[in-house]
Amino acid sequence: MPSEPFYDPAKSYLDNFERGPFGLFANTSPTSQTTEPKHEFLGHPVFAPFGIPAGPLINGKFVKAALDMGFDIPVYKTVRTKKYACHPWPNVLAVKVEGDLAPDRTLVANEDYSEPLSITNSFGVPSYDPEFWQRDMADAAAYARPGQVVVGSFQGTLPENGRVADYLADFVLGARLVKETGVPVIEVNLSCPNEGTANLLCFDIQRSRQVVEAIKDEIGGVPLVIKMAFYKDEKKLEEFLREVGKTVDGIAAINTISAEILDADGKQALPGEGRLRSGVCGSSVKWAGVAMASKLARIRGELGQTFTIMGVGGVGSAAAFDEYRRAGADVVMSATAAMWHPDLAREIKEQAHEL
Ligand SMILES: Cc1cc2nc3c(=O)[nH]c(=O)nc-3n(C[C@H](O)[C@H](O)[C@H](O)COP(=O)(O)O)c2cc1C
Repeated sequence: MPSEPFYDPAKSYLDNFERGPFGLFANTSPTSQTTEPKHEFLGHPVFAPFGIPAGPLINGKFVKAALDMGFDIPVYKTVRTKKYACHPWPNVLAVKVEGDLAPDRTLVANEDYSEPLSITNSFGVPSYDPEFWQRDMADAAAYARPGQVVVGSFQGTLPENGRVADYLADFVLGARLVKETGVPVIEVNLSCPNEGTANLLCFDIQRSRQVVEAIKDEIGGVPLVIKMAFYKDEKKLEEFLREVGKTVDGIAAINTISAEILDADGKQALPGEGRLRSGVCGSSVKWAGVAMASKLARIRGELGQTFTIMGVGGVGSAAAFDEYRRAGADVVMSATAAMWHPDLAREIKEQAHEL
């Protein structure tokens, strides 16, 4: 049964940040564990290879609630090296999709969050200053109990002068700042807008390689996860993995699928420039996440690589968790469904067959 979401779309990002999390995440206490963790994630024992990917856990209070609710691998939402404003409200709207969402569709948004649920999310990757988030992330990471691992996500910001060297330097600085928090695993978001075009960094293979190698040089032995978008072209994905796959420790995929979002009158639903198109996530993107997990597993085997596959997209049940694991995902994560099903980790621990 859908429950009150822990991130409330009816409220502003700031309200959620200051007053959230809500619903079952509001007053949590740690889940008692009577068994030993049987699974492993990038060198760390975990109770279940299940978590919440970068996004809905917008600060340490949200991460702590997720840990208490049994999400053993929560990711602290993507931060930047400087304060960065959030897009105007609304930042989350429901979208109606029949079946599987193909790329580049036009969808109608509303506020009906009933199932099967897909949403668009449009925040613009806001960030507080590192003075705030470093302390908050460190605190959240330290809250994890044995069998749980907090991941810190970040991304570089395009400099106004457009210089590639400055762009790379910002990724390196971000990686250093996240490492200083003591998080045991670092994630870099490569599925963010790149070089002023509608392209994503992960589709620019050589730039991705440069970014990832520069980060790895900076962070040394701390495991590095990259967050990728859906790659339709399998040959291109193989080329990407030949260049990047041996340098990274984990690949989390997918991010959202882009669509044009209109309101009931056919007008742009999200106010402001550059927001006609927006990323869609939730049940209608599961097909793409599962397909990506199986492509990653196949190519990883062929290339003899060893990165951990983190399957993301449309997971809202133990059956979906199982489907991802059978497709080749080592770890599975849920953002949209988890927001409305704060009990999802417990449900998966009780019901999944592929644990
Ligand atoms: C509210 C919200 C905020 C998100 N913010 C980020 C983000 O900051 N960084 C990122 O890499 N992905 C972000 N995502 C994408 C998710 O990590 C995930 O890739 C996507 O939502 C697909 O999973 P789902 O179908 O379970 O939602 C966000 C998703 C949601 C729902």
